[in-house]
Amino acid sequence: MKKKFLAILLAGAMAVTCLAGCGGSKDAAPAEDKTEAAAPAGDSALADKKVGVCIYQFADNFMTLFRTELEDYLVAQGFSKDNIKIMDGANDQATQSGQIDNFIAEGVDVLIINPVNSSSAATITDKVVAAGIPLVYINREPAPEEEQRWADNSWNVCYVGCDARQSGTMQGEIIADLGLEKVDLNGNGKIDYIMIEGDPENVDAQFRTEFSIKALTDAGLEVNCLDDQVGMWDQVKGQELVGNALSKFGNDIEVVFCNNDAMALGALQSIQTAGRTVGTDIFLVGVDALAEVVEHVSNGAITGTVLNDHIAQSHGAADAAIKFVNGETNEVYIGCDYVKVTPENAAEFK
Ligand code: GAL
Repeated sequence: MKKKFLAILLAGAMAVTCLAGCGGSKDAAPAEDKTEAAAPAGDSALADKKVGVCIYQFADNFMTLFRTELEDYLVAQGFSKDNIKIMDGANDQATQSGQIDNFIAEGVDVLIINPVNSSSAATITDKVVAAGIPLVYINREPAPEEEQRWADNSWNVCYVGCDARQSGTMQGEIIADLGLEKVDLNGNGKIDYIMIEGDPENVDAQFRTEFSIKALTDAGLEVNCLDDQVGMWDQVKGQELVGNALSKFGNDIEVVFCNNDAMALGALQSIQTAGRTVGTDIFLVGVDALAEVVEHVSNGAITGTVLNDHIAQSHGAADAAIKFVNGETNEVYIGCDYVKVTPENAAEFK
């Protein structure tokens, strides 16, 4: 536990100093898998328990997969579908806070929250704990100090998610593994790239931006950031931003890093419109392993992606919620691993 907290504290310090994809790089701490065993399937004692789920925004490809699997798995474990309420925060913290207040007033047995703003976690935790309701955070990791508070107070609060540094590193490695020869199309000895970021309030965006580039420099490659823009995890924004960058920097762009697959799909549309061909005169990577992207990776239209395991995470979150409901405790941090997806192994992810 202590080791993990040191890692989390370090990560927090890095998040503060790391600004953007054109910035420097820091050391990664190893991911730790603390997933624990699930409760027995189809537990009838869960049938009358109420679960409140808050999703930061329904209009998000990855979180749609996550919440669908979460609901299905909760039902498979014995909860009644009628007792699982899932709310759309519409990417607005005030809206989500109101939804949390309503769940508290209804007296749900457990809350699973994907916060709109990770920085609101302390406020959310305080009111949920005061109401005596156990709380499982998902997908958007609260700050290390916040997680430390749960441990110090032995509160029934935990976080289930993956270490975003690992996903960034894997994106960078996918490009580094191609070799400078292949990627350095303009022959200037550098990897000339653009970065399309998710919501910068989010550690996933911060760490993927930083660690993708760190993996290149760790591999001894020189890098040149041509552009770094915020696409808020959104396909349409990704398309626009990459379209603009292609008009501005043209053939100088060798690699397009997108913090997620939705934006990579948008990027691909603009790359095709510009008459460029991934794998030949430009390279493109995302994160999530959305089905459509895995298909593109297997036929070479996208260079690679990284599996963001929504099944492991949603099951982990439900299992943690069940333990809380059953009066058991959870580790404060429950992690899982990302996996690189390239043309060589894409078939396994279809
Ligand atoms: C990330 C995921 C993105 C987006 C984001 C929302 O983990 O890769 O696609 O869903 O979470 O916070």
